[in-house]
Amino acid sequence: MLSQIRESELQAIRSFHSSQLIRNKYENILENLDSGIILFDSDGVLAFVNVQMAKLLGVSRKSLTGCTLTQLVRHPQLSRFKKRKVLRIFRETVFHRKRFHELVDEYGRSWLITMTYGDQMEGDFLISVKDVSDFKRIEQSAYQNDKLAMLGKISASIAHEIRNPLTSIRGFIQLLRPHLVSLGKDEYARIILTEIDRANDIIYEFLNSSKPSAPETKIVSVSSLLKEVVLLTESEALMKGCQINLHTDETPPAYISVDVKQIKQVILNIIKNALDAINEHHDENITGMIDISARDNGKHIKICISDNGGGMDQNTLNHLFNPFFTTKESGTGLGLSVSYSIIRNHGGSIAVDSQVGAGTEFVITFPKLEVSEV
Ligand SMILES: Nc1ncnc2c1ncn2[C@@H]1O[C@H](COP(=O)(O)OP(=O)(O)OP(=O)(O)O)[C@@H](O)[C@H]1O
Ligand SMILES: [Mg+2]
Repeated sequence: MLSQIRESELQAIRSFHSSQLIRNKYENILENLDSGIILFDSDGVLAFVNVQMAKLLGVSRKSLTGCTLTQLVRHPQLSRFKKRKVLRIFRETVFHRKRFHELVDEYGRSWLITMTYGDQMEGDFLISVKDVSDFKRIEQSAYQNDKLAMLGKISASIAHEIRNPLTSIRGFIQLLRPHLVSLGKDEYARIILTEIDRANDIIYEFLNSSKPSAPETKIVSVSSLLKEVVLLTESEALMKGCQINLHTDETPPAYISVDVKQIKQVILNIIKNALDAINEHHDENITGMIDISARDNGKHIKICISDNGGGMDQNTLNHLFNPFFTTKESGTGLGLSVSYSIIRNHGGSIAVDSQVGAGTEFVITFPKLEVSEV
């Protein structure tokens, strides 16, 4: 009898220990999860906070134990920026009962805030915060690719519509040419024909670049490529009273494998935009400057093009690479969207940093070639 009681006691102790072990395991997992987790009980007192959430708040976990929401917002270690964000999260999730809420932090990262409450939580409120920046980036790039595909279709139909009448005009001018010659106006026929050919060339170039075609790559030195592009823009810059500074003292010289024509077009687009931005932001006391440089960080080659023009506001930055987005009266809004697809086709990336009134910097990143490939 006694031994039976002993056995059942031992059984109870064993099951208590094993449930304690499981509990510790779960707590350990929750504590070290890469998402931030915070739990408030039905009285609004903080019951649990994991390592990641304390890190995100920038507050020590110890000092958070037993805090109420008001105490959390007034916490001396919480920065003003974070206080505002915490209040916003609570307004959206607790008061407006939104189960999901998204926010962008001071470093531009996107976070998804999820709120769980209800019967299964026995009056508690669980808030979890997850970094979704990578998902956002993928989503944005899929959206961008869709738009570029649409752009390809639109440009093909535009080209079809414009090219046909141009071909007819060209044919009729050739028929009229003998009459113009007899009137001593052969020069007119020549000019019309040259201009039609030029228009055809422009359409051809436009179509070629707006359709994301596979690049015909060649290994080139970054500095010679940049020198050639600068040569092409120097006269326009001079006319606009703007200075272009090229910094290409790379030792050893850097090489990239690119479609030279396409990459020249990208750099030209960016320099032309910089010249426009400087022109629009005309200030007699400041010389317009465009600085172009190439950097080798071991794995990548970065080409930086910065200007001291008017810069861009957040709305412009959000739509910068969208086809047909322009703030210029005579702009098509295709320059940067085409540049974006060219750089992506080269396995590179393009980033921008800009401040209203201060200027803009574009950074194009290319994969670096191994010495054996050069
Ligand atoms: N360096 C810059 N400084 C300020 N704004 C810029 C700069 N580069 C681009 N932008 C902004 O981005 C917009 C889109 O540029 P994008 O080159 O795609 O088209 P666009 O220059 O307007 O027209 P186009 O098709 O003739 O190039 C511009 O209208 C301008 O508002
Ligand atoms: Mg442009």
